[in-house]
Amino acid sequence: MANNEDKFKKIIAHAKEYGFVFQSSEIYDGLAAAYDYGQYGVELKNNIKNYWWKSMVQHHENIVGIDAAIFMHPTTWKASGHIDAFNDPMIDNKDSKKRYRADVLVENHIAKIEGKIEKEVKKASKRFGENFDEQQFVSTNPRVVKYKEQIESIKNRLYSALEEERLDDVKSLIEELGIVDPISGSRNWTEVRQFNLMFSTQLGSLSEGANTIYLRPETAQGIFVNYLNVQKTGRMKIPFGIAQIGKAFRNEIVARQFIFRMREFEQMEMQFFVRPGEELKWFEYWKEQRMKWHLEMGIPQSEYRFHEHDKLAHYANAAFDIEFNFPMGFKELEGIHSRTDFDLKSHQDHSGKKIQYFDPELNDSYVPYVVETSIGVDRTFLAVLSYSYTEEKLEDGSERVVLKLPPFLAPIKAAVLPLVKKDGLPEKALEIFDGLKYDYMCFYEEKDSIGKRYRRQDAIGTPYCITVDHKTLEDNTVTIRERDTMKQERVGIDKLSEIIGAKLKFNG
Ligand code: GAP
Repeated sequence: MANNEDKFKKIIAHAKEYGFVFQSSEIYDGLAAAYDYGQYGVELKNNIKNYWWKSMVQHHENIVGIDAAIFMHPTTWKASGHIDAFNDPMIDNKDSKKRYRADVLVENHIAKIEGKIEKEVKKASKRFGENFDEQQFVSTNPRVVKYKEQIESIKNRLYSALEEERLDDVKSLIEELGIVDPISGSRNWTEVRQFNLMFSTQLGSLSEGANTIYLRPETAQGIFVNYLNVQKTGRMKIPFGIAQIGKAFRNEIVARQFIFRMREFEQMEMQFFVRPGEELKWFEYWKEQRMKWHLEMGIPQSEYRFHEHDKLAHYANAAFDIEFNFPMGFKELEGIHSRTDFDLKSHQDHSGKKIQYFDPELNDSYVPYVVETSIGVDRTFLAVLSYSYTEEKLEDGSERVVLKLPPFLAPIKAAVLPLVKKDGLPEKALEIFDGLKYDYMCFYEEKDSIGKRYRRQDAIGTPYCITVDHKTLEDNTVTIRERDTMKQERVGIDKLSEIIGAKLKFNG
C-alpha cells in the first residue's frame, strides 16, 4: 500500500514536471478537483480522444458523432431524473469537519471485511499447499462464511435504505458498524443528507427574471434529445449509435485522487439504439468490444476487470463497469449500461414530441432501447499514464524514468536532435523536422548533451529520437533510437517516415 501511494505521488509529480497536468489556477493556490492539461498532456489527451473516436465512429458504418451544447433546456434534467435522483448521501464529521459519501464509508467497511476473507484464503492456501480448493474453503470455513454473511447483510441494509431514502437508517448503520472518520478517528457524525451533484447557474440577467440552468452532469442527454434529428437527417436504421466527446460537471462531495474524480471532466459516450428485447444481446456485445478497445492499447488483461453493479441506476436494467488497476487499486474506468427506453420515453413525455422509430422489418413503431458505453477521458489518461510510468535501472548503474506509452498515444512521435549546435547540423536537423512535421507531431531541440535530451524524451514517452551527426551531412543517414530498447540504428533519412508510421499502427 505504502509503495503504491508512493508510486502515485511520483506519477503526479512527474505529470507536473513534464508538462502533462497542472493544478488549476495554481498561482492562487489551486482550485480543488480542477486540473489543467499542459503542453504534452493535451497531446496525450487528444490522442486518446482520437483513438476512441476512430474506433467508435470511423470503424463502424452505423455509428455517427455529434457535439451538443453543454447548456440544455432545464426540463432535460427533469426528464432524465437528474433533478430528483442525481444525489449522493453525504455525512459530515463534526470533529474533523470533513465531508464523506455515507455509502462510500460503508462500502470501505465492507472492503475491510473482504480483506479479512482474502487473508484467511491466503493463510489456508499456504497451509494446504497444492491440495487447496479455494471454492470449497470459502463456502465451508466458518470464519469466512461468517464474514460473507456480514457483508451480505450490510449490503442489503445499505442498498434498501438508499433505495427507500431512509437516510436515518444509513446513519444508524454507520454508527452500529462503528465506522470512524478516517482522518480524526472520531465517531461524531452529523445526520445523512442528500446532496444534488449538479452545478446550477443563471441564464440571462437577474433583472429579466433569469432562469436556472444546469451544467450537464453527463453528455448522454445531448444525444437523447438529438435522437430524432440524427436518425432522420442521417437516415439511420436501427441498430445504430450516436457518439459524443465532451465536458461534464459534477459537484462531487469527495473529489480527490488527482484526475480520477474531478468536478469538471470529460466523457466519451456512445448510445446504441436497438429493438426492445434485443438490448441484453447488444449489452454483451458492447461489453466485449469495449474491453478489446482497452487491450488494444497494449495494456494486459490483468490490469482490467469487470464489475457488476450491485445497485442499478434509476434508468438501467443491467450495468457493468470496466475497472482498472489504478495506483490506488481497482476502480471504475468505464460504465456499460443497458438504459432501457427510460430516457427517450421520458423525453417524449416531457416534450410532447413523439420519439419513435418505424421498423420496416417489423412493420411496427417503438421507442428504441439503449445500450450505452461511457468512459472518462481523464480516467483513461490516468490509467495510461500510471501503467506507462516506469523506473529503470540501466546496465551502467544509472537510472531513467520512461513513459512506455502506446506509441500511437505518445504526445511526440519523434524528436529530431542535432548532435552539436554547430557545423550545419542544426540546419540539417530542421530540414528533417520540416519533412516529418506534416505527418507526425515532432520535436526539435539542440540544447544540452545528447544523453540529457534522450532522457527528457524518455520521460515524455517519445517512441523515437533521431540524431543528426557529421556523417549525416556526408551520406544522408541518421541514427534512430527506440525508446524502450534504447537500441540505435543507422538509417537513411528517406526511410524515417516509414519507420515511424509502422510503429503507430493500431486496429481499435
Ligand atoms: N452517462 C452515464 C454516466 O455518466 P457514470 O458512471 O456516472 O455514467 C461514466 O460516468 C464515466 O465518466 C465513469 O466511468 C468515469 O470514467 C467518468 N467520470 C464520472 N465521474 C467522474 C469524475 N467526477 N471525474 C472524472 N471522471 C468521471
